[in-house]
Amino acid sequence: MPSHMSSDDGQNYIGLREWENMAQAWIEEMRYGRNPVRRGFLDRYMLAACGDVTGLRILDCGCGEGRFCRMLVERGAGYVLGVDLCRPLIDAARELKGERDEYCLANVENLDFLAPESFDLAVSYLNQCDVSDFLANNRAVYRVLKKGGRFLVANLHPMRSAAGTWCRNAAGEKLHVILDRYFDEGERHWTMLGCPLINFHRTLSTYIRGFISTGFEIIDVVEPTVGPEDLAAYPELDDERRVPNFIIYILGK
Ligand SMILES: C[S@@+](CC[C@H](N)C(=O)[O-])C[C@H]1O[C@@H](n2cnc3c(N)ncnc32)[C@H](O)[C@@H]1O
Repeated sequence: MPSHMSSDDGQNYIGLREWENMAQAWIEEMRYGRNPVRRGFLDRYMLAACGDVTGLRILDCGCGEGRFCRMLVERGAGYVLGVDLCRPLIDAARELKGERDEYCLANVENLDFLAPESFDLAVSYLNQCDVSDFLANNRAVYRVLKKGGRFLVANLHPMRSAAGTWCRNAAGEKLHVILDRYFDEGERHWTMLGCPLINFHRTLSTYIRGFISTGFEIIDVVEPTVGPEDLAAYPELDDERRVPNFIIYILGK
């Protein structure tokens, strides 16, 4: 699967340079790191939302270095296409590719190089928060999904992508999370794995109305949290019992 970006396409995409700078640290964290958020609970929710993937053609928007694509192949998917804008991550994904997964350098806001109604399932695993035009991504995915297909969007929870941090007492103990600038949509600047990261905050209604206006049916909305077994393995996830950090939209065409 070739690249679907022209020489200047994507070069100035907001946040891309940050992803390229972080790529090596990201690959190491995804492959060898503890990665508590995914391994500790989000993978379980995403796989449950996918259901039986045996034989399915699946599109992964913002696949990164390809770990979720490989997980879907291991579970019997017929074909998985991972799309990402970050060249070092696509190169890394290709290094581990098998016979039923392919990786493509492209912007998920424009999937015109894919045939209409050619996928059974599409996933977006913490990608839409990084996409500057999430409506374009919705439209692109809607076009390539078969009728009856589903789009699973795992995202930062709008309560947490807004702004804010933990308010702590003098002893440094967490008291509560501060929620601020909720209605001020747009760019947010963070640090992840020691590197700068830019993503986008949108309100809950912006996301939901965006899915509906694209034509998707909202089948379910899931707010993942952790149970005792998750906490036994990943005690650092205890915040997840207190505040909603993530949300999964299960959408149907
Ligand atoms: C938080 S990472 C998630 C990676 C992967 N889904 C996972 O969970 O391991 C977000 C990914 O989205 C990619 N990305 C951001 N904007 C994109 C766009 N417009 N088109 C394609 N990929 C994009 C980044 O390069 C990055 O790999």
